[in-house]
This record gives sequence, C-alpha cells and structure tokens, in this order.
Amino acid sequence: MTSRGASDVVDLRARALAVLVGNHRAGYTVPAEGLYPYQWCWDSGPIALGWAAAGKWDDAWTELLRLLSAQWASGMVPHIVFWESCDDYFPGPEVWGTSHTPPTTGITQPPLPVSSAARLFVADPDRDRARAMLAAMWPGLVAWIGWIARARRGPHGGCVIVHPWESGMDNAPCWDAPLEHAPTASDPHLERRDVATVAAAHRPTDHDYRRYLGIVERLRAAGWDTEEQAAVSPFAVEDVAFTAIAARAASDLGQVARDVGEDPAPLDRFAAEARAALTALWDDDAGWFRPYDVRREAPLGPLTAGGLVAVWAGGVDAARVDRMLERLDGWATAAPFGVPTCDPTAPAFDPERYWRGPAWVLVNWLVADGCARSGYAERAEQLRASTLALVARAGFSEYYDATTGQGIGGHGFSWSAALTLAW
Ligand code: DGY
Repeated sequence: MTSRGASDVVDLRARALAVLVGNHRAGYTVPAEGLYPYQWCWDSGPIALGWAAAGKWDDAWTELLRLLSAQWASGMVPHIVFWESCDDYFPGPEVWGTSHTPPTTGITQPPLPVSSAARLFVADPDRDRARAMLAAMWPGLVAWIGWIARARRGPHGGCVIVHPWESGMDNAPCWDAPLEHAPTASDPHLERRDVATVAAAHRPTDHDYRRYLGIVERLRAAGWDTEEQAAVSPFAVEDVAFTAIAARAASDLGQVARDVGEDPAPLDRFAAEARAALTALWDDDAGWFRPYDVRREAPLGPLTAGGLVAVWAGGVDAARVDRMLERLDGWATAAPFGVPTCDPTAPAFDPERYWRGPAWVLVNWLVADGCARSGYAERAEQLRASTLALVARAGFSEYYDATTGQGIGGHGFSWSAALTLAW
C-alpha cells in the first residue's frame, strides 16, 4: 500500500470514529442524530463491533448491556428503546403505549446483537472483562433466542415477523402484498418527522405508514402479549433474513456456550431447525430465498436482498449460493454498489427509496461475511473493497442510491461508520 493509501485509511477510520462519538449517548449509540434519536435493537449489533474495532471495548459491551437492560420478561428485546424523551421521532412512546419501563416499542428486530456479543467475547483481549460481560448478559441472550424459538415460529419452522418494522427492512417490496391486507391507522393524519430531514422520495410512503400504524394499533389493542402476536397480528410473515440472523445468533451463542461451561444443546437445536427452515423457503424456479406470507400461505416477491442474507446463517448449499451470486452479478450493471435491496429488473425497484433498491453497508457486510464463511473468499473481499470505496467517496450515509452510489437517507449513520471500522 502506498503511504497515500495508508493515510487515506487512517483518515477514513478517524472520520468513522467521529460519527460514532457524535452519536454516542449515555451508554448507547443512536443510529443517526435527529432522524433516529433512541437506541435501535439491531443497529446495536454492528455499532458494538465498531466500538470494539476502535479499541473502545467498554463502550462496545455497554452498548449491548444497555439494550438487554430493556428486555421484556418474556425474553423479547424491543426494536426501539426510548431512553430519552424527544420530539424528533414519530411514532413515539405514547403511540406504542406499552407501559414498559424504560419506555419501548412492543415489537422486536433481528437478533444481530446476539452474534455481536459472541464476537466480542471471542475477540476481547481482556479475558476477565470478556468473561464478566458475557456472564452478565448470558441469561438475557439465551432468553431472547428462547422467546424467538417459542413464540415466533412459522409453518416451516422459520421465524415469523408481525410487523414490517421487525424485519429491519421496513418497506422492502416483498411486504407490499401482505401490507395491503393490514388495517389502516384510525387517524389518517400522520405526524411524520422523518420527512423533515430526509427527502420524502427516499422514505416509505404515507400509504405504507398508515398501515404500519394500523398494525401497531391492533397489537396495542391485543395488550402487547408477546406470546400471542404471531397469532393475532394482521401481518405475519416467515422472513428469510430474520430466520438467518436468528439461526446464526443461536449457533454463535452455542459456540461460546462451550467456552463458558453452559449447555449449547438448545441453542444448537434451534440453529439447526432454523437452517432447515431456510431450505424450505428456497424457491428453486427463482433461484432465491423468499419470505412466506403465513396468513395467505404464499411465498412473497419480488426478489430482495433479504433472500440473499440467508448466506449469513451459514450452511447454505453451495449450488444455491452460486445461483444467487450469479444473479447478483447480473444485477451489477444496473446497480453496481454491492447488493441492491431489490431486484433492479422488478417493477417495484426504486433506486432511492429506503429498502426498495438502495445499497446498504449492513447488507453488503452480512452477505460478505456469509460468503467468507461459506468459502467464497474472493466475493467477500470484492464486497468489502467496493463498500469501503463507496463510504470513502460518499460518506457514512444511511444508504446509497443503487444506480449512482450517491449517499442518501440519514447522514453520519452509525452502522455505516461502525462497519467501516470493523471491516
Ligand atoms: C423508522 O422509523 O424508519 C424505523 O426504521 C422504524 O423502526
């Protein structure tokens, strides 16, 4: 590497760390100033890895501990923890009305922080701290996986999400069809704050928001019973990416269980079942994994990044990975920045609108890591290099126009910065 190249890397790392520091609050890190002013569940996973990569181990562990301190008695970890009151965000705690302390939403997100806890445990050079932190978190991590395994199983044994927000890929086009069957909010007036900072064309539509809120109202009316949500929600989808992330979380935790003298068997069992469920979600005609609408008993399209995130689980048949990567190569002419979140040839593809096309650092990283673990080292390196080139050029944006690479959505986005550090 030339000295110019080395100084560029140092500069990129310094800028990434500055983003995390700027978004750091008391023991947790907001995804982006203003736009997302609380702690988000799955964001905490990559954020913790970013702190660790910067050598800030205490901040890394605290990020995860803080999230778990908001866990519900059932084991469910909420998708947002409203640590401070703030007018910048809608829907806030009064819309959710969960009566939890601290105030939280009443739905979850993919359990990516579980895999981060396992990764921190393996990598932390201070072994006493690693053991103490993992011990403090262990019951919560196991209870989280236990709740998913118990309360969120679909007909194929995969994981059921009861709201598009639970996927983390809020407005992915594969939710369009089930969302049309969801009730709309009783109050058609929306207090949206997101479109004050981000162009409305880059965010979910009002049409979608009315249904997001309609599902929240239904779940609220059902009393936020986290054992019953999969039965009562008007939206119930067995999701590929959530299942893959849960499978990997359980297997990562099973690995460290052996090191700390805990029983890996229930974790390994769930990981195996979730991986088997992914196999059932494979669509051999499409050559892609597809989520499944539990209410209407039908696989969902179009092809989205969530299907490819299956590789993060590990253990996906090589012939299937080959077929997906071949298709991804075909998409690269139209959308050359790693993994577009939707098939660019699908009518629903929108290169700028949130999860309907743009490239995301997290998705590229999940796919690259899954590829590396499945023996596709060259592909992993290619995704790493192109993602780092993207952030170096366009900044630590929330997402990137899939056709131009322009940074859009929120700026100074924590996981884009954190994964730059970790990568
Ligand atoms: C948002 O507000 O856009 C979040 O993604 C919902 O969790």
